[in-house]
Amino acid sequence: MKNKQSWIDQRFPLTKVWNEHLAEYYTPRNFNFWYFFGSLALLMLVMQLVTGIFLTMHFKPDSANAFASVEYIMRDVEWGWLVRYLHSVGASAFFVVIYLHMYRGLLYGSYKGPRELIWVLGMLLYIVLMAEAFMGYVLPWGQMSYWGAQVIISLFGSVPVIGPDLLVWILGDYAVGDAALNRFFSLHVIALPLILVVLVFLHIVALHTVGSNNPDGIEIKKNKDKDGIPKDGIPFHPYFTVKDTMGAVAFLWIFCAVVFYAPGLNGYFLEHANFIEANPLQTPEHIAPLWYLTPFYSVLRAVPPMFGSQFPGVLAMGASLLILFFLPWLDRSPVKSIRYRSPIYKWVLGVFVVSFVMLGWLGMQSVTPLNVFLARVFTVLYFAFFILMPWYTSIGKTKEVPERLTE
Ligand code: HEM
Repeated sequence: MKNKQSWIDQRFPLTKVWNEHLAEYYTPRNFNFWYFFGSLALLMLVMQLVTGIFLTMHFKPDSANAFASVEYIMRDVEWGWLVRYLHSVGASAFFVVIYLHMYRGLLYGSYKGPRELIWVLGMLLYIVLMAEAFMGYVLPWGQMSYWGAQVIISLFGSVPVIGPDLLVWILGDYAVGDAALNRFFSLHVIALPLILVVLVFLHIVALHTVGSNNPDGIEIKKNKDKDGIPKDGIPFHPYFTVKDTMGAVAFLWIFCAVVFYAPGLNGYFLEHANFIEANPLQTPEHIAPLWYLTPFYSVLRAVPPMFGSQFPGVLAMGASLLILFFLPWLDRSPVKSIRYRSPIYKWVLGVFVVSFVMLGWLGMQSVTPLNVFLARVFTVLYFAFFILMPWYTSIGKTKEVPERLTE
């Protein structure tokens, strides 16, 4: 073994990479529950790639056959039902994990310097992931696939001047149809997954360049022993490889319970209307994207049209996503972790979380005057979180941050 290893090491930096990124990669020893979600996001990425490969073996990207090919996967392909449910539940589970992963960033100020780039790469991942999920949902060519695509893609048509041409360019046709299904398939199966994998690699490289933050928000690299090892660090392997494996097992229990007992989760993970084949002549009563996109859909619906154009809503929706990129520069707090922040921040973060969840919920409801009013209130609160951030993070009394980790 030793000989073989050195043979490889002479030609490829296997041991070097192993040591630098695992066995001698020093990680804060106080990681808690919230630190499981990065490795779980990796697990979900692999789950989607593997199940996606098998689905692609039987799926037909053709508007005349797509719906039937999914039924065929569900009924005739051996274990096809399992692969499909692992993939469809997997998409929602991926977003559950990502939202908790992002929330951890807010809790512990993980986006603050020197980790701005990790956050920006994470945001790019988030946006590509939303595009990936949206296009994946179109593929089974059910009613909601079709009408969801119709509603979302038509938004591009509201762009002044170039809108109508842009729409035709995106669809490859004058309406959602075979051409759109084909290109969404191509993007969903190869282009976007490739981008995701590259972005994840860059995300981890950026993380390993500066090192992980932790629940205390203390830089462990500032306190090293005589050998240059952070006093509060422990090697990632075996300590966190074992701990993350435990997290993955616990997560997979819950995940499998949903896959086996409630794969549609009462319409939240697979909408009821999507079990009916797409019919361009019959609009479903409610058209809404799946839960992970609804907060932004709510922002879109909250903004009134101007001169009959939906463009202001589209701009607001775009802004609600873009503004997240700027978090590292909007936060002026001298401390990172919520543990040492002022009570003002804790309240503001609470209001933000309620606003985001409410926007998500409202995006799934039908449009009534009350719902529109509420969506407007929560949209304002959502934006206020970011716009007022430079102000409320620089007032209020923060607690003193200790030199070393507290646990
Ligand atoms: C496919 C999606 C993603 C994968 C596979 C992924 C993976 C990871 C992993 C493995 C870690 C290290 C473990 C951990 O700290 O939990 C990490 C850290 C981090 N991620 Fe992600 N991530 C993804 C998306 C995102 C998104 C959407 C954001 C935010 C917009 C984000 C922001 C961060 C930040 C700020 C850190 C450093 C956290 C700290 O040190 O406290 N990531 N990510």
